[in-house]
Amino acid sequence: MKRILLIVSGGIAAYKALELVRLASKAGLGVTAVLTKAGAEFVTPLSLQALTGEKIYQDLFSLTDDSEMGHIELSRAADLVVVAPASADILAKMTAGLADDLASTLLLATDKRVLVAPAMNVRMWQHPATETNIGTLKARGVLVVEPDEGPMACGEYGPGRLAEPPVILAGILAALNDGLLKGKHAIVTSGPTHEPIDPVRYIANRSSGKQGHAIAQALAALGARVTLVSGPVALPDPFGVELVKVETARQMQAAVQAALPADIAVCAAAVGDWRPQTEAEQKLKKDGSGATALSLTENPDILAGLSAPSPTRPKLVIGFAAETERLAEHAAAKRARKGCDWLVANNVGGTGIMGGDENEVLLLTADGAEPWARMNKQAVAEKLAAKIGAYFE
Ligand code: C5P
Repeated sequence: MKRILLIVSGGIAAYKALELVRLASKAGLGVTAVLTKAGAEFVTPLSLQALTGEKIYQDLFSLTDDSEMGHIELSRAADLVVVAPASADILAKMTAGLADDLASTLLLATDKRVLVAPAMNVRMWQHPATETNIGTLKARGVLVVEPDEGPMACGEYGPGRLAEPPVILAGILAALNDGLLKGKHAIVTSGPTHEPIDPVRYIANRSSGKQGHAIAQALAALGARVTLVSGPVALPDPFGVELVKVETARQMQAAVQAALPADIAVCAAAVGDWRPQTEAEQKLKKDGSGATALSLTENPDILAGLSAPSPTRPKLVIGFAAETERLAEHAAAKRARKGCDWLVANNVGGTGIMGGDENEVLLLTADGAEPWARMNKQAVAEKLAAKIGAYFE
């Protein structure tokens, strides 16, 4: 059994550490927890102990703790040290090498990989001191699960919210990295494309990239090396994947081709089917006639290109189909037309799925159609990744 040493530092997000412990245990990990003094203001040792089923460590100089397991042994017994939530204070201590309590002493004494999931007020996160600290820690090889952006307990809005527990767990599993897809390379496309009309305007679509990014993360959690080719999205960079940022369909195709060879390709991007025939060099002006026309030309089909027989064709190519009517029929036709192995079809007609957090899909494979219940995009990603893992087993 793999074991993590989880350090829970102070901050309102500490309550999410309990959910992380629950998920980690469910994933088969052993969890030893260390609670800092500030962390203990937000969660009780008792609740952590109930979830880990183990003794909770809090004191550097506790005689009983030391006789059972000292700080060196604590980190020796773990495969990965995780700090979640990681406060600005503990990140600063790690950077400076301070060792004035059990958590900071452990972090200075450990020879194991360390993963931190920061959580703090937006201005603390954006303060040059924290930015410098994070930069230094990353340069030392500390793994960082970036915080989310959103409303904060302090009433402000911005980046600094602790990443969701399933995302932190995915980071942990990727760091432990001995999943079903170890040694496999996966290319995932995600997000919309922006097709320029002129220097200030473009054609785009409502894709948020949430599904594609979640798939990239879930594949990495199973140990795959993942190249995520993404159009413009407002999402934190997923942890542990190589991210290539593009804008247009043609750039996305070039990036995908450059990332080959791969074992798996998942085309979850909502690629613009058309682009303006020409991109005006200067901003287009109204001419007073009240109407104008845009001439469009078709974009290359990245999925069809990847699916075509070739020496570099990935063994498993998976496409997506967003349909607004006659889902099963259109999806089956699309799978045949594109030549992909699997097709994940979803009905995006008026259900708040495009851009939303949930998805309801139909998976088409050579064995037929499999309807999945409505679930969040993270769960869809994990289920799809598990199926991909089983395919390669
Ligand atoms: O034809 P349609 O756009 O509905 O097909 C959707 C699937 O094809 C998705 O998997 C999408 O990522 C992929 N696609 C592509 N390149 C395009 C258009 C769609 O890879 N130009």
